[in-house]
Amino acid sequence: MTHLTGAAVRAMVPNHRGAIINVASLLAFSESAVLSRFNRATYAGCKAFIVTFTQLVAQEVHDHGIRVQVCCPGAVETEFHDVAGVPNPPAAMSPEAVVTASLRALDAGEVVCVPGLEDPSVIDRYHQAQREMLRQGNRPELAERYRVAAG
Ligand SMILES: NC(=O)c1ccc[n+]([C@@H]2O[C@H](COP(=O)([O-])OP(=O)(O)OC[C@H]3O[C@@H](n4cnc5c(N)ncnc54)[C@H](OP(=O)(O)O)[C@@H]3O)[C@@H](O)[C@H]2O)c1
Repeated sequence: MTHLTGAAVRAMVPNHRGAIINVASLLAFSESAVLSRFNRATYAGCKAFIVTFTQLVAQEVHDHGIRVQVCCPGAVETEFHDVAGVPNPPAAMSPEAVVTASLRALDAGEVVCVPGLEDPSVIDRYHQAQREMLRQGNRPELAERYRVAAG
């Protein structure tokens, strides 16, 4: 995905047009959730990489007329779960619906597409929380609670 995106960007920049859609997963945002269906550290970690990578590529190529999206579906009705050997989810979206959402999101200029998410302001609030953590945490001083050793 990383190399393919780089190759696509290099080919698209001279033409000032093109679109890239990388497929991540809603599980990219699942690190704080307790979900017992299957172990997902590697899968969710890789998907989180795709989300961060793709959003930053979108920023970097914004002025070159290239549209970039990361699509983050929840469960989808494919062979994925059988192939991975994990339990099938109780309910799943059709692949056709995921593609419809992704293409409409591309037209709307959404960089992060979550096909089942009714309220897209959740994504804005997630990004706001990230910027707040960056702003508050990036200081030369130790935070108060680390100034004295515990115990
Ligand atoms: N299904 C879900 O619930 C779900 C939810 C969120 C995100 N996703 C993401 O959606 C994407 C598609 O998954 P899916 O649900 O469509 O899974 P899938 O039904 O298992 O299909 C995976 C596809 O990827 C191809 N593939 C696997 N390894 C490959 C490789 N090394 N090089 C080229 N092609 C390769 C397979 O080709 P062959 O058939 O030839 O092996 C197959 O066509 C994945 O990135 C997955 O993480 C899926």
